[in-house]
Amino acid sequence: MLHPATRTLAALLALAAGACSRGPAPGTDAGAAPAGSAGASIGSAGAPVDPPAPPGAAPLRAPVREGGALARAAREDALYVADEDHGVVRVVPLPLDPERPGAGVPAPGRPAQVLALGGPEGRVLATVRDPGLLLILRPDAAAGLVEVGRVPLPADAWGIAVTPDEKTAIVTSAWTHKVSAVDLETARPRWTVDVAREPRGVAVLPDGSAAYVSHLVGADLTRIDDLGGAPRVRRVALPASPLRAPSGERLAASLGYALALSEDGRRLFAARHALGAMGHAAWFGAATVDVLITGRDEPLAPPHHGNLPVLRSAFAEQVITPESVITLPGASVTPVTQPRAVAYRKRARTLLVAGEGDDLVLEVDATAVDPTLAIVKSYPVGGRYDPHIRVAGTCGAPTGLALSADEATAWVFCRSTGDVAALRLHDPAAGAAAATAGSAAATAGSAATPAGSVAASAGAAPTAAPPPEGPAALVHLADDPLGPEVAKGRRLFYNALDGTVSGNLGCAGCHPDGRDDGYVWREATFSTADGEHANFVGRPENIPEVAKRKGVPRRTPMLAGNVGAAGPYGWHGESEDLVSRLQTGMGLHRWGGLPIDHTPAGVAARATVLAMFLRRGLVAPPRAEGAPDERVKRGREIFRSDEAKCSRCHVPESDYTDRMAYPMPKRPPLPGYDEDPRPEYKTPSLRFVGGRPPYLHDGRAGTLAELIEQNADRMGKTSHLSPEDRAALVAFLETL
Ligand code: HEC
Ligand code: HEC
Repeated sequence: MLHPATRTLAALLALAAGACSRGPAPGTDAGAAPAGSAGASIGSAGAPVDPPAPPGAAPLRAPVREGGALARAAREDALYVADEDHGVVRVVPLPLDPERPGAGVPAPGRPAQVLALGGPEGRVLATVRDPGLLLILRPDAAAGLVEVGRVPLPADAWGIAVTPDEKTAIVTSAWTHKVSAVDLETARPRWTVDVAREPRGVAVLPDGSAAYVSHLVGADLTRIDDLGGAPRVRRVALPASPLRAPSGERLAASLGYALALSEDGRRLFAARHALGAMGHAAWFGAATVDVLITGRDEPLAPPHHGNLPVLRSAFAEQVITPESVITLPGASVTPVTQPRAVAYRKRARTLLVAGEGDDLVLEVDATAVDPTLAIVKSYPVGGRYDPHIRVAGTCGAPTGLALSADEATAWVFCRSTGDVAALRLHDPAAGAAAATAGSAAATAGSAATPAGSVAASAGAAPTAAPPPEGPAALVHLADDPLGPEVAKGRRLFYNALDGTVSGNLGCAGCHPDGRDDGYVWREATFSTADGEHANFVGRPENIPEVAKRKGVPRRTPMLAGNVGAAGPYGWHGESEDLVSRLQTGMGLHRWGGLPIDHTPAGVAARATVLAMFLRRGLVAPPRAEGAPDERVKRGREIFRSDEAKCSRCHVPESDYTDRMAYPMPKRPPLPGYDEDPRPEYKTPSLRFVGGRPPYLHDGRAGTLAELIEQNADRMGKTSHLSPEDRAALVAFLETL
């Protein structure tokens, strides 16, 4: 049976990609950079790669100016790992040798990223989450690394980038939504600015004029100009995966962990997840690398319009024949799952994307309009899969990437198993012959002939899994700090491969860092061949057309710091305890219900280890310290007052919730969502509420101030409050 929608999508994508793929290569964007801009003179694609200088020769430069969980020393004698789960910065000697896993240098908190500078000393920068710090370290033969500077920053310091002169570091602070500049010569902060929620990846243009910041929540980027003077902050729109969006729609994004720049700085690449992107059974969307032309701050890919048919996902039970398979590369759903890190390979003009969920490193054509539709090669890195629960025993959840100076090798840090692997990359000079058959069939030629990059959808769909080829070398750094059972839960949390837990999206895909994606998912009930199923979907277009449903709103809740209670769980409070909620979830995060071969015992075993990890392995965000000011005290008074009644349901002694479900006065459903037939909701905990907009089960309130403004007397009573008292109530909520 051939579903017409599949053909339409294939045809549309072929059309869109074909029309766009003739676009200019990065170095040739007409009008992309203003005339005379410094960007034009910096590097050119295909230029020879710097070889590592011998000791004592001219000063080295930082191998990359963007930080990551993994970094390579400029001299290529070591890798550095920001090992969050063990609270250490690791020094791993090169070449990799399983007998020499290297040493971990204790950090004053959990390190998130490392960046290796050039210069004679080869200093290393590391961010620390809580307390927020930038550490400046120096390699030392005996100690591994020695601290030479420590700069206090807003809490949850996460991403780092350096300016081309390597004198200034730009650091993002995720939970506190700040970006700071640090003078590396004096080890002092220079400025801090406020930005949107969850800033993570950061990249500085090659002329040092501006920095871009990606966010875990939402598709927009932040651009900061005048890094050396008074910084100016603005938002830059970059809709996710326009070519896979329903016609005329702009998709939201999540998982914006990583940014990379082309060598000349004219293209910025944002690896992330496009929520609701179309594809066969793509209920949750697809991974994407979105390209921004930095000279104009405009997306490279145009939106597609013109009354093209709205695309619907096909039913899961559809018979897949070679003709009916959508010709999206990288199999049916998404070419890679949960993008976590990205590296630009200058010589090949490709990008490597680490897929945390499917233990994969994907190489895509950086010159394509939509790089994720132009796959060059896919490198599976996971190994020794558990025979029962499909999690990797080696190299699970790739989190960091670093390239060798000759760009022939990529090193991968795998967080859930604690390994570093070396991958031998395909030789761009060898072109098609060296690329893996199947996944690369459509685009293999593109790396060799970048200007004429072939859009992937024009070629044949993958017919077979790539031949098994694992990493060339593997070093195990350390066992899980929380023991074997929690380790299994941790591996499952990132994992998108185990068919019982989810349909191709790991917990970390919606609950990154155990927090939330800020997205309002849809729970939709529709029939497939084996009955009715309630499933999550990203957008109404992901639901089969015949269902005529949009789905009811379900905002993703934050888990970290909010899973201590016995129960109940779920927005309706429908699951008695955490383990039963996780079992319910396994039926929802997918397409068409649990797989036929699942067993209740198998479901329970997975839920049990996952619950252990959620409670012991997730780390709550940092909380602001300091004594409450007068306004906060006034807010608390109102919150606990008999008139406002907030604390009756949001009981302070039990994390500001009584965990009971209450009927809420009906409001018309938001556009794009169905009315919830059961409008009663569990009182949510207000712990950390200030940092996790949007609010309510349908995300209706964008800020706490808006929530109080709109509340009238729906929850407790707020209509009697003066503007000052409302502000005081909000100020109090922000301290929780
Ligand atoms: C597609 C996105 C998505 C994925 C994947 C996902 N979740 Fe959720 N999660 C949600 C949403 C949305 C809700 C709220 C649904 C509801 O309560 O009806 C939720 C609710 C929860 C809750 C209940 C929290 C509370 O306070 O009531 C827990 C616990 C949870 N998820 C854990 C997990 C775990 C563990 C995984 C991996 C097995 C996972 N989730 C995968 C989106 C997701
Ligand atoms: C009758 C019990 C009840 C009372 C009284 C109450 N709330 Fe709530 N609160 C709820 C419920 C239930 C929700 C979820 C409603 C929804 O999602 O539509 C909620 C949601 C919230 C949220 C959003 C949390 C989130 O994670 O989205 C905030 C903030 C909040 N309440 C603050 C207050 C304040 C301030 C007061 C006092 C003026 C108050 N509430 C009074 C039950 C209550």
